[in-house]
Amino acid sequence: MKRLCKLAIVILFMLLLSSCGQKSDREPNAEGEADQTKSIEAETGKAKNIEMDESAEESPADENNTQTQEDEGAMKRDITFDFKTKTVTLNSGYRMPIYGIGTYSLTDSECIDSVTAALENGVRLIDTAYMYHNEESVGEAVRNSGIPREEIFVITKLYPNQFSDPESAIEDALKKLDIGYIDMMLLHHPGAGDVDAYLAMEKAVADGKIRSIGLSNWYVEELEEFLPQITVTPALIQNEIHPYYQENDVIPYIHDLGIVVQGWYPLGGRGHTAELLGNEVISKIADAHGKSSAQVILRWNLQKGVVAIPGSSNPDHIKENTELFDFELTEDEMEQINALDRDEKHDWY
Ligand SMILES: NC(=O)c1ccc[n+]([C@@H]2O[C@H](COP(=O)([O-])OP(=O)(O)OC[C@H]3O[C@@H](n4cnc5c(N)ncnc54)[C@H](OP(=O)(O)O)[C@@H]3O)[C@@H](O)[C@H]2O)c1
Repeated sequence: MKRLCKLAIVILFMLLLSSCGQKSDREPNAEGEADQTKSIEAETGKAKNIEMDESAEESPADENNTQTQEDEGAMKRDITFDFKTKTVTLNSGYRMPIYGIGTYSLTDSECIDSVTAALENGVRLIDTAYMYHNEESVGEAVRNSGIPREEIFVITKLYPNQFSDPESAIEDALKKLDIGYIDMMLLHHPGAGDVDAYLAMEKAVADGKIRSIGLSNWYVEELEEFLPQITVTPALIQNEIHPYYQENDVIPYIHDLGIVVQGWYPLGGRGHTAELLGNEVISKIADAHGKSSAQVILRWNLQKGVVAIPGSSNPDHIKENTELFDFELTEDEMEQINALDRDEKHDWY
Protein backbone atom coordinates (compact mmCIF):
# COMPACT_ATOMS: atom_id res chain seq x y z
CA MET A 1 0.00 0.00 0.00
CA LYS A 2 2.84 2.32 1.00
CA ARG A 3 4.63 1.48 -2.26
CA LEU A 4 1.42 2.14 -4.24
CA CYS A 5 1.07 5.58 -2.62
CA LYS A 6 4.69 6.43 -3.43
CA LEU A 7 4.19 5.36 -7.08
CA ALA A 8 1.05 7.53 -7.34
CA ILE A 9 2.95 10.56 -5.98
CA VAL A 10 5.82 10.02 -8.45
CA ILE A 11 3.38 9.74 -11.42
CA LEU A 12 1.53 12.87 -10.29
CA PHE A 13 4.83 14.76 -9.98
CA MET A 14 5.95 13.67 -13.46
CA LEU A 15 2.62 14.69 -14.98
CA LEU A 16 2.91 18.12 -13.34
CA LEU A 17 6.48 18.58 -14.63
CA SER A 18 5.58 17.70 -18.21
CA SER A 19 2.63 20.10 -18.31
CA CYS A 20 4.84 22.99 -17.05
CA GLY A 21 7.50 22.17 -19.66
CA GLN A 22 5.00 22.29 -22.53
CA LYS A 23 3.71 25.66 -21.42
CA SER A 24 7.09 27.34 -21.16
CA ASP A 25 8.20 25.92 -24.55
CA ARG A 26 5.19 27.31 -26.34
CA GLU A 27 4.66 30.78 -24.91
CA PRO A 28 7.57 32.79 -26.26
CA ASN A 29 7.78 31.08 -29.66
CA ALA A 30 4.45 30.18 -31.17
CA GLU A 31 2.48 33.11 -29.78
CA GLY A 32 5.24 35.67 -30.13
CA GLU A 33 6.03 34.74 -33.72
CA ALA A 34 2.39 34.58 -34.72
CA ASP A 35 1.82 38.07 -33.36
CA GLN A 36 4.88 39.45 -35.18
CA THR A 37 3.65 38.04 -38.48
CA LYS A 38 0.15 39.31 -37.86
CA SER A 39 1.47 42.80 -37.15
CA ILE A 40 3.47 42.91 -40.37
CA GLU A 41 0.50 41.62 -42.33
CA ALA A 42 -1.64 44.36 -40.87
CA GLU A 43 0.93 46.96 -41.80
CA THR A 44 1.77 45.84 -45.31
CA GLY A 45 -1.61 44.38 -46.13
CA LYS A 46 0.29 41.34 -47.40
CA ALA A 47 0.70 37.86 -45.98
CA LYS A 48 4.47 38.11 -45.85
CA ASN A 49 6.61 37.19 -42.90
CA ILE A 50 9.40 39.73 -43.16
CA GLU A 51 12.57 38.82 -41.27
CA MET A 52 12.54 40.72 -37.99
CA ASP A 53 15.37 41.97 -35.84
CA GLU A 54 15.72 39.29 -33.15
CA SER A 55 16.03 41.85 -30.41
CA ALA A 56 12.88 43.54 -31.65
CA GLU A 57 11.00 40.29 -31.03
CA GLU A 58 11.89 40.54 -27.37
CA SER A 59 10.90 44.16 -27.14
CA PRO A 60 8.07 45.01 -24.78
CA ALA A 61 6.87 47.28 -27.57
CA ASP A 62 5.64 44.16 -29.33
CA GLU A 63 3.19 43.42 -26.55
CA ASN A 64 1.78 46.92 -26.83
CA ASN A 65 1.69 46.63 -30.57
CA THR A 66 -0.23 43.36 -30.52
CA GLN A 67 -2.65 44.69 -27.99
CA THR A 68 -3.33 47.86 -29.96
CA GLN A 69 -3.79 45.90 -33.14
CA GLU A 70 -6.30 43.59 -31.48
CA ASP A 71 -8.09 46.48 -29.79
CA GLU A 72 -8.23 48.92 -32.65
CA GLY A 73 -7.50 46.88 -35.75
CA ALA A 74 -4.52 49.12 -36.44
CA MET A 75 -0.87 48.83 -35.53
CA LYS A 76 0.71 51.38 -33.26
CA ARG A 77 4.02 50.68 -31.63
CA ASP A 78 5.59 52.05 -28.50
CA ILE A 79 8.20 54.35 -30.01
CA THR A 80 9.77 55.38 -26.72
CA PHE A 81 13.55 55.56 -26.99
CA ASP A 82 15.49 52.83 -25.20
CA PHE A 83 18.45 54.69 -23.70
CA LYS A 84 20.12 51.42 -22.66
CA THR A 85 20.32 49.94 -26.15
CA LYS A 86 20.34 53.44 -27.73
CA THR A 87 17.69 52.29 -30.17
CA VAL A 88 14.01 52.70 -30.97
CA THR A 89 11.70 50.04 -32.41
CA LEU A 90 10.05 51.31 -35.58
CA ASN A 91 6.46 50.44 -36.53
CA SER A 92 7.99 48.15 -39.19
CA GLY A 93 9.39 45.98 -36.39
CA TYR A 94 13.01 46.91 -37.05
CA ARG A 95 15.24 48.60 -34.52
CA MET A 96 17.00 51.82 -35.41
CA PRO A 97 19.75 53.62 -33.46
CA ILE A 98 18.63 56.93 -31.94
CA TYR A 99 21.78 58.81 -32.95
CA GLY A 100 23.85 58.69 -36.10
CA ILE A 101 25.75 60.72 -38.67
CA GLY A 102 24.37 62.88 -41.47
CA THR A 103 26.29 63.06 -44.73
CA TYR A 104 24.85 66.12 -46.49
CA SER A 105 27.65 68.01 -48.28
CA LEU A 106 30.18 65.23 -47.68
CA THR A 107 31.33 63.56 -50.88
CA ASP A 108 33.96 61.10 -52.09
CA SER A 109 36.91 60.54 -49.71
CA GLU A 110 35.60 63.11 -47.21
CA CYS A 111 32.37 61.13 -46.96
CA ILE A 112 34.16 57.76 -46.76
CA ASP A 113 36.49 59.07 -44.03
CA SER A 114 33.66 60.63 -42.02
CA VAL A 115 31.44 57.54 -42.15
CA THR A 116 34.44 55.34 -41.32
CA ALA A 117 35.31 57.52 -38.31
CA ALA A 118 31.68 57.39 -37.19
CA LEU A 119 31.53 53.60 -37.50
CA GLU A 120 34.81 53.29 -35.58
CA ASN A 121 33.27 55.38 -32.81
CA GLY A 122 30.23 53.14 -32.47
CA VAL A 123 27.81 55.05 -34.75
CA ARG A 124 25.51 52.60 -36.52
CA LEU A 125 23.03 54.97 -38.21
CA ILE A 126 23.97 56.77 -41.44
CA ASP A 127 21.80 59.23 -43.33
CA THR A 128 22.39 59.74 -47.05
CA ALA A 129 20.27 60.67 -50.08
CA TYR A 130 20.31 60.54 -53.87
CA MET A 131 20.63 64.33 -53.79
CA TYR A 132 23.84 64.20 -51.66
CA HIS A 133 25.69 62.41 -54.50
CA ASN A 134 27.42 60.17 -51.97
CA GLU A 135 25.48 56.90 -51.82
CA GLU A 136 28.45 55.08 -53.41
CA SER A 137 30.82 56.50 -50.78
CA VAL A 138 28.51 55.59 -47.90
CA GLY A 139 28.20 52.06 -49.28
CA GLU A 140 31.96 51.77 -49.65
CA ALA A 141 32.56 52.83 -46.03
CA VAL A 142 29.93 50.35 -44.80
CA ARG A 143 31.36 47.48 -46.85
CA ASN A 144 34.94 48.23 -45.81
CA SER A 145 34.11 48.59 -42.11
CA GLY A 146 34.16 44.87 -41.34
CA ILE A 147 31.06 45.43 -39.22
CA PRO A 148 28.27 42.91 -39.89
CA ARG A 149 25.78 44.47 -42.32
CA GLU A 150 22.82 43.82 -39.97
CA GLU A 151 24.40 46.03 -37.31
CA ILE A 152 24.37 49.11 -39.53
CA PHE A 153 21.25 51.10 -40.42
CA VAL A 154 21.40 53.12 -43.65
CA ILE A 155 18.79 55.69 -44.64
CA THR A 156 18.59 57.06 -48.16
CA LYS A 157 16.02 59.21 -49.97
CA LEU A 158 14.33 59.56 -53.34
CA TYR A 159 14.33 63.13 -54.68
CA PRO A 160 11.18 64.57 -56.34
CA ASN A 161 12.86 64.51 -59.77
CA GLN A 162 12.92 60.70 -59.38
CA PHE A 163 9.23 60.31 -58.52
CA SER A 164 8.16 59.79 -62.15
CA ASP A 165 10.09 56.49 -62.31
CA PRO A 166 10.45 55.33 -58.70
CA GLU A 167 11.15 51.69 -59.54
CA SER A 168 14.31 52.64 -61.47
CA ALA A 169 15.27 55.12 -58.73
CA ILE A 170 15.04 52.39 -56.08
CA GLU A 171 17.16 50.05 -58.21
CA ASP A 172 19.64 52.90 -58.72
CA ALA A 173 19.97 53.45 -54.94
CA LEU A 174 20.41 49.71 -54.33
CA LYS A 175 23.12 49.59 -56.97
CA LYS A 176 24.96 52.69 -55.76
CA LEU A 177 24.91 51.68 -52.10
CA ASP A 178 25.72 48.04 -52.93
CA ILE A 179 25.02 46.82 -49.40
CA GLY A 180 22.32 44.25 -50.20
CA TYR A 181 19.19 45.89 -48.85
CA ILE A 182 18.27 49.43 -47.78
CA ASP A 183 17.26 49.80 -44.14
CA MET A 184 15.11 52.87 -44.70
CA MET A 185 14.09 54.87 -47.74
CA LEU A 186 12.36 58.26 -47.46
CA LEU A 187 10.74 60.57 -49.96
CA HIS A 188 12.97 63.66 -49.63
CA HIS A 189 10.23 66.26 -50.19
CA PRO A 190 6.58 66.39 -51.17
CA GLY A 191 6.25 66.73 -54.96
CA ALA A 192 4.35 65.66 -58.06
CA GLY A 193 4.00 61.86 -58.10
CA ASP A 194 4.89 61.42 -54.42
CA VAL A 195 2.00 59.02 -53.71
CA ASP A 196 3.01 56.72 -56.57
CA ALA A 197 6.64 56.91 -55.50
CA TYR A 198 5.62 55.91 -51.96
CA LEU A 199 3.52 53.03 -53.27
CA ALA A 200 6.57 51.85 -55.24
CA MET A 201 8.58 51.91 -52.00
CA GLU A 202 5.82 49.85 -50.35
CA LYS A 203 6.26 47.26 -53.11
CA ALA A 204 10.03 47.27 -52.63
CA VAL A 205 9.43 46.50 -48.94
CA ALA A 206 7.23 43.55 -49.88
CA ASP A 207 9.97 42.41 -52.29
CA GLY A 208 12.59 42.55 -49.52
CA LYS A 209 14.66 45.32 -51.15
CA ILE A 210 13.89 47.92 -48.49
CA ARG A 211 13.09 47.22 -44.84
CA SER A 212 11.31 50.39 -43.72
CA ILE A 213 9.99 53.50 -45.44
CA GLY A 214 9.14 57.05 -44.48
CA LEU A 215 9.00 60.73 -45.41
CA SER A 216 11.05 63.87 -45.08
CA ASN A 217 9.78 67.45 -44.93
CA TRP A 218 6.17 66.44 -44.38
CA TYR A 219 4.37 68.54 -41.79
CA VAL A 220 0.84 68.29 -40.35
CA GLU A 221 -1.10 69.55 -43.38
CA GLU A 222 0.94 67.49 -45.82
CA LEU A 223 0.52 64.37 -43.68
CA GLU A 224 -3.23 64.82 -43.38
CA GLU A 225 -3.50 64.84 -47.14
CA PHE A 226 -0.92 62.12 -47.83
CA LEU A 227 -1.57 59.39 -45.27
CA PRO A 228 -5.09 58.39 -46.46
CA GLN A 229 -3.64 57.67 -49.92
CA ILE A 230 -1.07 55.08 -48.83
CA THR A 231 -1.16 51.62 -47.22
CA VAL A 232 1.97 51.37 -45.08
CA THR A 233 2.25 53.97 -42.33
CA PRO A 234 5.66 55.69 -42.54
CA ALA A 235 8.11 54.36 -39.95
CA LEU A 236 10.01 57.65 -39.79
CA ILE A 237 9.59 61.33 -40.60
CA GLN A 238 12.73 63.47 -40.93
CA ASN A 239 12.20 67.22 -40.55
CA GLU A 240 14.21 70.32 -39.61
CA ILE A 241 14.47 70.47 -35.81
CA HIS A 242 16.85 72.49 -33.63
CA PRO A 243 16.48 74.82 -30.63
CA TYR A 244 15.56 77.77 -32.91
CA TYR A 245 13.07 75.71 -34.94
CA GLN A 246 11.48 73.19 -32.62
CA GLU A 247 8.30 72.01 -34.34
CA ASN A 248 6.64 71.58 -30.95
CA ASP A 249 3.24 71.24 -32.66
CA VAL A 250 4.43 68.77 -35.32
CA ILE A 251 6.43 66.34 -33.15
CA PRO A 252 3.53 65.20 -30.91
CA TYR A 253 1.26 64.89 -33.96
CA ILE A 254 3.76 62.53 -35.61
CA HIS A 255 4.46 60.62 -32.40
CA ASP A 256 0.73 60.08 -31.88
CA LEU A 257 0.65 58.26 -35.20
CA GLY A 258 3.29 55.83 -33.89
CA ILE A 259 5.89 57.32 -36.24
CA VAL A 260 9.47 58.05 -35.13
CA VAL A 261 10.74 61.61 -35.63
CA GLN A 262 14.26 62.41 -36.81
CA GLY A 263 15.68 65.94 -36.92
CA TRP A 264 17.85 67.42 -39.63
CA TYR A 265 20.12 70.41 -38.98
CA PRO A 266 20.26 69.45 -35.27
CA LEU A 267 23.07 71.98 -34.76
CA GLY A 268 21.37 74.59 -36.93
CA GLY A 269 23.05 73.53 -40.17
CA ARG A 270 26.28 74.80 -41.72
CA GLY A 271 26.53 78.58 -41.42
CA HIS A 272 24.27 78.62 -38.35
CA THR A 273 26.08 76.40 -35.84
CA ALA A 274 27.97 79.30 -34.20
CA GLU A 275 24.68 80.98 -33.17
CA LEU A 276 23.41 77.82 -31.53
CA LEU A 277 26.64 76.54 -30.02
CA GLY A 278 27.36 80.01 -28.66
CA ASN A 279 23.90 80.51 -27.21
CA GLU A 280 24.27 81.63 -23.58
CA VAL A 281 21.55 79.37 -22.16
CA ILE A 282 22.92 76.30 -23.93
CA SER A 283 26.53 77.11 -23.01
CA LYS A 284 25.59 77.51 -19.35
CA ILE A 285 23.81 74.16 -19.28
CA ALA A 286 26.81 72.59 -21.05
CA ASP A 287 29.21 73.99 -18.42
CA ALA A 288 27.03 72.64 -15.61
CA HIS A 289 27.35 69.12 -17.02
CA GLY A 290 30.96 69.39 -18.19
CA LYS A 291 29.75 68.74 -21.76
CA SER A 292 29.89 70.74 -25.02
CA SER A 293 27.01 72.82 -26.38
CA ALA A 294 26.71 70.37 -29.28
CA GLN A 295 26.28 67.46 -26.86
CA VAL A 296 23.62 69.38 -24.90
CA ILE A 297 21.64 70.12 -28.08
CA LEU A 298 21.87 66.52 -29.24
CA ARG A 299 20.84 65.23 -25.81
CA TRP A 300 17.90 67.68 -25.80
CA ASN A 301 16.80 66.12 -29.09
CA LEU A 302 16.98 62.61 -27.67
CA GLN A 303 15.06 63.54 -24.52
CA LYS A 304 12.33 65.03 -26.74
CA GLY A 305 12.12 61.73 -28.62
CA VAL A 306 13.89 63.07 -31.71
CA VAL A 307 16.61 61.00 -33.40
CA ALA A 308 19.76 63.08 -34.00
CA ILE A 309 21.93 62.83 -37.12
CA PRO A 310 24.53 65.63 -36.87
CA GLY A 311 26.79 66.02 -39.88
CA SER A 312 30.54 66.29 -39.43
CA SER A 313 33.81 65.61 -41.18
CA ASN A 314 35.86 66.30 -38.08
CA PRO A 315 36.81 63.06 -36.25
CA ASP A 316 36.88 64.85 -32.87
CA HIS A 317 33.36 66.20 -33.40
CA ILE A 318 32.18 62.81 -34.67
CA LYS A 319 33.42 61.19 -31.45
CA GLU A 320 32.02 64.02 -29.30
CA ASN A 321 28.61 63.57 -30.91
CA THR A 322 28.45 59.97 -29.68
CA GLU A 323 29.07 60.85 -26.02
CA LEU A 324 25.47 61.63 -25.18
CA PHE A 325 24.60 58.92 -22.70
CA ASP A 326 26.62 59.77 -19.58
CA PHE A 327 24.48 62.75 -18.55
CA GLU A 328 20.84 63.78 -18.45
CA LEU A 329 19.20 67.19 -18.77
CA THR A 330 16.85 68.11 -15.95
CA GLU A 331 13.25 69.06 -16.65
CA ASP A 332 14.18 72.66 -15.92
CA GLU A 333 17.08 72.55 -18.41
CA MET A 334 14.81 71.00 -21.05
CA GLU A 335 12.34 73.85 -20.45
CA GLN A 336 15.08 76.46 -20.76
CA ILE A 337 16.03 75.11 -24.19
CA ASN A 338 12.37 74.74 -25.20
CA ALA A 339 12.01 78.45 -24.44
CA LEU A 340 14.63 79.31 -27.11
CA ASP A 341 12.24 78.45 -29.97
CA ARG A 342 12.08 81.29 -32.54
CA ASP A 343 10.24 79.46 -35.31
CA GLU A 344 13.38 80.26 -37.31
CA LYS A 345 13.79 77.89 -40.24
CA HIS A 346 17.35 77.57 -41.57
CA ASP A 347 16.36 76.19 -44.97
CA TRP A 348 13.41 76.59 -47.31
CA TYR A 349 11.97 73.09 -47.09
N1 LIG B 1 15.87 65.68 -45.20
C1 LIG B 1 16.37 66.85 -45.47
O1 LIG B 1 15.76 67.66 -46.18
C2 LIG B 1 17.68 67.25 -44.88
C3 LIG B 1 18.13 68.57 -45.00
C4 LIG B 1 19.35 68.88 -44.44
C5 LIG B 1 20.11 67.92 -43.78
N2 LIG B 1 19.64 66.63 -43.69
C6 LIG B 1 20.40 65.58 -42.97
O2 LIG B 1 20.66 66.05 -41.66
C7 LIG B 1 22.06 65.94 -41.41
C8 LIG B 1 22.50 66.99 -40.42
O3 LIG B 1 22.46 68.27 -41.02
P1 LIG B 1 23.78 69.06 -41.40
O4 LIG B 1 24.92 68.13 -41.38
O5 LIG B 1 23.54 69.77 -42.65
O6 LIG B 1 23.84 70.15 -40.26
P2 LIG B 1 24.16 70.06 -38.68
O7 LIG B 1 24.36 68.66 -38.26
O8 LIG B 1 23.17 70.88 -37.97
O9 LIG B 1 25.53 70.86 -38.63
C9 LIG B 1 26.66 70.41 -39.26
C10 LIG B 1 27.77 71.38 -38.90
O10 LIG B 1 28.03 71.25 -37.51
C11 LIG B 1 29.40 71.09 -37.28
N3 LIG B 1 29.55 70.19 -36.13
C12 LIG B 1 29.17 68.90 -36.03
N4 LIG B 1 29.43 68.42 -34.81
C13 LIG B 1 29.99 69.43 -34.12
C14 LIG B 1 30.48 69.53 -32.80
N5 LIG B 1 30.44 68.51 -31.95
N6 LIG B 1 31.00 70.73 -32.40
C15 LIG B 1 31.04 71.78 -33.26
N7 LIG B 1 30.58 71.74 -34.51
C16 LIG B 1 30.06 70.56 -34.95
C17 LIG B 1 29.95 70.53 -38.56
O11 LIG B 1 31.28 70.93 -38.75
P3 LIG B 1 32.50 69.88 -38.71
O12 LIG B 1 32.43 69.10 -39.99
O13 LIG B 1 33.68 70.77 -38.61
O14 LIG B 1 32.31 69.02 -37.51
C18 LIG B 1 29.05 71.13 -39.61
O15 LIG B 1 29.55 72.38 -40.05
C19 LIG B 1 22.67 66.11 -42.80
O16 LIG B 1 24.03 65.72 -42.84
C20 LIG B 1 21.75 65.26 -43.63
O17 LIG B 1 22.08 63.91 -43.49
C21 LIG B 1 18.43 66.29 -44.23
